[in-house]
Amino acid sequence: MNKKPEIIAIDGPAASGKSTLGRRLADALGYLFFDTGVMYRAVTWLALHRGLNLADEAAVTALAEQTAIDVRPPSRDDGRMYDIWVDDRDITWEIRKPEVDRNVSLVASYGGVRRALSAQQRRIGMRGRVVMVGRDIGTVVLPEADLKIYLDASAEERARRRYEEILSRGGEADYDQILAAVRRRDEIDSTRDVAPLRPAADAVIVNSDGMDATQVFQRALALCVQPEEKPNGVA
Ligand code: CDP
Repeated sequence: MNKKPEIIAIDGPAASGKSTLGRRLADALGYLFFDTGVMYRAVTWLALHRGLNLADEAAVTALAEQTAIDVRPPSRDDGRMYDIWVDDRDITWEIRKPEVDRNVSLVASYGGVRRALSAQQRRIGMRGRVVMVGRDIGTVVLPEADLKIYLDASAEERARRRYEEILSRGGEADYDQILAAVRRRDEIDSTRDVAPLRPAADAVIVNSDGMDATQVFQRALALCVQPEEKPNGVA
């Protein structure tokens, strides 16, 4: 029988379902789930909270280097997958606010911010038995990952999922605004100079248009059992 992959990287554009898939896969395998997007969101939230000028790359980078971001098991049963703490404050929901959505890709485009956060991510990932989710995990953070999945979906489908997620939490949302924000974030993420969003050469691309979360999960689980699938093939 094939050995199960010890390090699994899941990358893909905004709202493609990476966190949902990563969480389910990690639970099924008994691995740690690590969503690297929360670290970029936490730095962005803190920079806004402190009133920093986000265009000031040096100041934002210094903040990323000095800030301890704590990811802990969920302390409340309110739909969260984990707690995010910064400066003795629970910011789990704060980092999901539209203001953070609008600014996170700028913060994530700074080379110094990426260096600081990637180093922490790599330390955690190299311990193994981990499912790490982000934009550059298979390409930069953990290029030695045993299984790399690039989870894609059309911008319309991703915006629809994000819209329904916000409504299901009792929030208010405008589909057209969400679609525009998703497209803007994709554009910045895939054209930045440092670690742009793109599939690794040996990633399996899964397009989840028309698939529900369970179908995507089953597809990914099958890849853990049959890792010999042709790299970079459309799964
Ligand atoms: O959940 P969603 O896909 O909307 O976003 P996220 O995974 O929370 O990531 C938020 C933002 O952080 C992304 O749009 C990227 O700009 C940045 N990010 C990154 O640059 N590299 C990562 N490994 C993870 C996130």
